[in-house]
Amino acid sequence: MWHSSVPQRFSFTLCHTELFAMCGRYLQLLLSSALLAQLTNAAQILGLFAHPGKSHFDFFRPMLLELAGRGHNVSVYSYFPLKHPVENYTDYVLEGMPLLTDFVDLQAIETDAELLGQAYKVPTFFMLHDWGLRSCQVALNSPLISQLLSSAQRFDVILLEHFSNDCMAAVAHLLQAPMIALSSCAIMPWHYKRMGTPFINTIMPMNFLPYNDEMHFAARLNNFLHFHVINALYNFITQPATDALISQRFGSGLPPINEIVKNTSLMLINQYYALTGPRPYTSNVVEVGGLQVGASQPLPEHLARLFEAATLGVIYISWGSMVNPSSLPQPQLQALYATIAQFPDYTFVLRWNKPAALQNKPKNLYTYEWLPQRDLLCHPRVKAFITHGGLLGSTEAVHCAVPMLVTPFYGDQFLNAAAIVQRRFGLIVGFKNFNEPQLTEALTAILQPSFAAAMKQSTIAFRSRPQPPLDLAVWWIEHVIATRGAVLSQSVARHINWFVYNSIDVYVCCLGFVFLSLLSVWKIIKYIKCNWKQHKNKAKQQ
Ligand SMILES: *[C@@H]1O[C@H](CO)[C@@H](O)[C@H](O)[C@H]1NC(C)=O
Ligand SMILES: *[C@@H]1O[C@H](CO)[C@@H](O)[C@H](O)[C@H]1NC(C)=O
Ligand SMILES: *[C@@H]1O[C@H](CO)[C@@H](O)[C@H](O)[C@H]1NC(C)=O
Repeated sequence: MWHSSVPQRFSFTLCHTELFAMCGRYLQLLLSSALLAQLTNAAQILGLFAHPGKSHFDFFRPMLLELAGRGHNVSVYSYFPLKHPVENYTDYVLEGMPLLTDFVDLQAIETDAELLGQAYKVPTFFMLHDWGLRSCQVALNSPLISQLLSSAQRFDVILLEHFSNDCMAAVAHLLQAPMIALSSCAIMPWHYKRMGTPFINTIMPMNFLPYNDEMHFAARLNNFLHFHVINALYNFITQPATDALISQRFGSGLPPINEIVKNTSLMLINQYYALTGPRPYTSNVVEVGGLQVGASQPLPEHLARLFEAATLGVIYISWGSMVNPSSLPQPQLQALYATIAQFPDYTFVLRWNKPAALQNKPKNLYTYEWLPQRDLLCHPRVKAFITHGGLLGSTEAVHCAVPMLVTPFYGDQFLNAAAIVQRRFGLIVGFKNFNEPQLTEALTAILQPSFAAAMKQSTIAFRSRPQPPLDLAVWWIEHVIATRGAVLSQSVARHINWFVYNSIDVYVCCLGFVFLSLLSVWKIIKYIKCNWKQHKNKAKQQ
C-alpha cells in the first residue's frame, strides 16, 4: 500500500538528469516505505496499565496478544501477567494494589441513590477518584517504572488506559512515543474534550446514569448536571491531585497532565452501536466493542453433560468478577432460591466464590467457583443469563443471543442495563426489587420465544460487521505506528474553548444582530409616529 504514491509510468520525453532525479526520489520512497513496513512489521509496543481491575484488562489483553502474534515486541506493565507466556510478549507485574476481584460488598451497596426523584451518582466519581489516585501513586513509584525510564529501550507506540486517572500518560510523555488510549467502558465526561469528540446531552447518557438515548426533560436536565458537575470535579480535584503526584515523582518540568493527554493519537473503546446505541465520534475515537469474544472452545466434559441433561435448558447466573457473591444479603439469596424453585425444568448454574458455604439450595441449582463464560453462553442449551450488566458479560450474551435479566449494582452497569432493555436484549430487576415475584415475572418474560426471536435480530446486527473488531483495533494501532501518531485523524476541537466550540460567540453575534434590527425598526416606527403626530398637530393649528 505504501507504493501507491510512486509514479506508475515514466514519460519518455524526460532528459537524463530528470530521469536520475526521479530514480533518486523513487529509491528514496522505496527506502522510506521499506522502513515504514519494517516499523509496522515488528514495532516496539509498550502497554501501561495501572488500574487493578481484571474486567478492564480482559478487554485489553486480546489486542496485546494479537499484536505479539503479529510479530511485534510487546512489553506490558500491569497487574495481570499471562498465565501461559507467549513469544514476543513480556510481562512486567506491578505490585502494591489489591486486585479488584470478589471485592464489591453487596451488603453495603446503595444502588438507588436519588435526589429530587432522579438518579444521583456523584458519589461514584469520588470512588473512582480515590481508586485512580491510589493506583497512580503505586504505579508511578514502582521500581519497574524507574527501570523502564532509565533503560535505553525506545517504543513506537504506547497503549494505556483512559479511565479514572491519567498519570501513566506522564510516563508516556517522558518516553516520547505516540499514545493510544483504551477504554473498557463508555467514555468518561473528561475524555470528550481531550479527544475533541462531541458530547450531545440529548442523546448521550452519562456513564453512571440509568438512561438510554430517549430521555424526557428531567432526565436530560439530570444528564446535563451530572456530565458537567462530574467533569468539573475531575478538572478541579483529580487533575491537580494527579499533577501533584507527577511533580513529586518527576519534578515540576512536565506540562500539566490535561495538556499531555490531548496528545492521545487514538482511543479504542468498548462500545458498539448495536448494543450501546449510535453515537457521533470523531475519527480518532473508534468503537471496537466485542473484540474480546474470541473463537469458541468446547465446554469442559462435566458441564457439557449437565447441559445435555437439562430438561428445558440452562440458566446462567453471574455477577462478574468484581462483586463478592457471598456478600449477597439473606433476603435476596432466599428470593433467588425461591425463583429457581419456580423453574424446576431448567438447570441453573451459578458462579459463586465459596460454593461449599451455600446451604439448602434448590436441587436444580449448581454452583462453581469459575465458569468458562464465553463458551457457556454460546452453548445452544443456555436460554437466559442473570447478570449485573457488566459490559464484557453483556457483550458475550449479545454475541450468543442469550436474553438477560439485569440487576445493575454500580458504575456503568445502569447505563448498560438501560441500553440492553431499549434494544430488547433483556429486562431489568433492580436490587431494591430483587424479590421472588419480580424475578419470576421477568425471567418468565425473557424465556418467551417471542423475546428470543426479537433478540436474534439484534444479535445479527451486533455480529455483522465489515471487519471483526479485533482486526479493526489492530489495524488502527498499526496505522498509528506507521504514521507516527495518526496526526490527520486528530480533531482540532481539542484546543478550542467551550465558548467557541459551542458557537456561543456566534449565537451572541446573531442575537445582537436581531436585537439591533428590532431596535432600529422600533426607532423608525417611533420616528414616523412622532413625525405623523407633529404633522397632525400642525394641520390642527392651521
Ligand atoms: C516474534 O517476533 C519475531 C520477530 O518479529 C517473529 O519472527 C516471530 O514469528 C514472532 N513470534 C510469534 C509467536 O509470533
Ligand atoms: C523486546 O522488548 C524488551 C523489553 O520489554 C527488550 O528487552 C527486548 O530487547 C526487545 N526485543 C526485541 C527483539 O526488540
Ligand atoms: C505533543 O506531541 C507533540 C508532537 O509529538 C510534541 O511536540 C509536544 O511536545 C507534545 N505535547 C505534550 C504536552 O505532550
